[in-house]
Amino acid sequence: MDIDTEAMVFAKENEGPYDYKEQETWKIIIADDEEDVHQITKMVLKDIELFNRKIEFISTFTGEETKRVIRENPDTAVILLDVVMETDDSGLQVVRYIREELKNNKVRIVLRTGYPGQAPEKQVVIDYDINDYKEKTELTSQKLLTTIVSALRAYKDIIIIEENRLALKRLIEASPKIFELQSLGRFVSAVLSQMISIMNLSKNTVFYSTAGFAATKDVSTGDFKILAATGDYANEVEKSIKDVLNPNILSFVSKALARKENIYEKGRYIAYFKSKNGAENIIYTEINKELRHLDKSLIDMFCNNVSIAFENLYLNKEIEETQKEIIYILGEVTEGRSSEIGNHIKKVSKYCEFIATKYGLPKDEIEIIKMASPIHDIGKIIVSDAILNKPGRLTEEEFGVIKKHSMIGYNLLKNTSRKILDTAAIIARDHHERYDGKGYPQGLKGEEIHLYGRIACVADVFDALSSKRVYKEPWKIEDIINYFIQEKGGHFDPKIADILIENMDEILKIKEKVDQELGGKM
Ligand code: C2E
Ligand code: SIN
Ligand code: SIN
Ligand code: FE
Ligand code: FE
Repeated sequence: MDIDTEAMVFAKENEGPYDYKEQETWKIIIADDEEDVHQITKMVLKDIELFNRKIEFISTFTGEETKRVIRENPDTAVILLDVVMETDDSGLQVVRYIREELKNNKVRIVLRTGYPGQAPEKQVVIDYDINDYKEKTELTSQKLLTTIVSALRAYKDIIIIEENRLALKRLIEASPKIFELQSLGRFVSAVLSQMISIMNLSKNTVFYSTAGFAATKDVSTGDFKILAATGDYANEVEKSIKDVLNPNILSFVSKALARKENIYEKGRYIAYFKSKNGAENIIYTEINKELRHLDKSLIDMFCNNVSIAFENLYLNKEIEETQKEIIYILGEVTEGRSSEIGNHIKKVSKYCEFIATKYGLPKDEIEIIKMASPIHDIGKIIVSDAILNKPGRLTEEEFGVIKKHSMIGYNLLKNTSRKILDTAAIIARDHHERYDGKGYPQGLKGEEIHLYGRIACVADVFDALSSKRVYKEPWKIEDIINYFIQEKGGHFDPKIADILIENMDEILKIKEKVDQELGGKM
């Protein structure tokens, strides 16, 4: 499932959930067998605008007709429902139909009867979530208006709660995907915006300004760092809360951290989340209004769900981190078998990242190439040390063994559903193909070679030429540049060779940096 959490964030923040468009209306069904009732009700409520919307009436005169109309109009907000129509209990049957068969629990039902004796039992009112029970004589214009306003308000809250529930569900479903893209920040800003929209639940015409941030504990320092923010805190992302919050708010936040629970104080709310593996997160919001009881319990419920989502996220993060580490270890195992060291895998990975960035690939692809490229030579596990570390030139037969490493690597890594390993399989297979079709293992030509393979090829050969190998000394930079110029369209994809040539200074800086980190090993 794919969602754009960023779009979600902005849609909710800027508009708030109640900016209904003008042409939208509240649908109200008047179900009554007496024509007069329709006339009077419409007259009283005509031209009234409630919560920024006009009212649209639909009239029905029998129970059966009402069932059909409500079925066809699931977005009906309120139904003013006569109890006695074609039968003594038509209205009650309609109620049962709506709640039990249609499972429509949103529409607000106001029962009306001209016969006090026909009043439904209390249990019916409770079981079927009937908002209101009115005798028709009670429905003076003022009372009718009050009844409609409160029914609409209830309906509106139900719709918003439902929207939030769905948004949260989408969020939770999307979380593994979000993590693949390495973006706790995005997840958190989506959560923050949901939180704010819940806080604005009872907003009518006044716009409530809201400020807030989400922060996560940095395990190494113990500080809480802001991951996402709105309002006054919008410019504080990435900073530590210690440096950003005024002492007053900081002490409020510290209280929640000490108690490890959600705290609500006048005008501010802090939600605290702790996952099983010890990760701690907080979401802080400021609101210039009192929270109603409904809001508070809703927010607590929301926080509960978010805790679960965080849990999933961290689990995914853990899996992903583990995966990355294993890939690195595998790469080092392969590399460690060659007697020439030089951090080949690390450099190839960095060069791939650099080239992919200059090529203009999207961020997530760059990240995956960077993570996958260290194991491009994993297939060398089948090559004996005698061949791998032979100081001189290889015989044709020996080189034949080496050439198998591409397909061996591919076969080891393919058939997984993990994106990193999938990408690693492609790179393993294609990194010795040549643009002119004279490479191995398949002799693919030009764009037949996967782009990742063409990128890794340039990175790999650059590293081989610029480093010492048991069988060769490092080349001079001019010679390397000449080789890449000469082999444009031969060994290499010309566009990628150009990227390398044109950015040689930066490439050399990367090389220097990795070699230095290695502590003079190379
Ligand atoms: P490697 O040493 O990391 O080299 C990777 C690729 O860089 C080579 O792929 C080749 O395309 C390029 N390359 C490396 N050195 C030179 C060079 O001196 N001249 C030119 N023009 N290109 C060079 P290739 O040829 O498919 O080799 C794959 C792997 O096989 C090499 O990885 C190395 O592990 C091994 N290998 C290749 N030739 C020899 C050799 O003569 N002796 C030994 N012991 N191993 C060799
Ligand atoms: C309606 O059904 O009219 C309410 C739906 C909404 O406002 O999103
Ligand atoms: C290496 O020596 O690890 C790289 C050689 C290759 O890409 O096959
Ligand atoms: Fe290779
Ligand atoms: Fe390599």
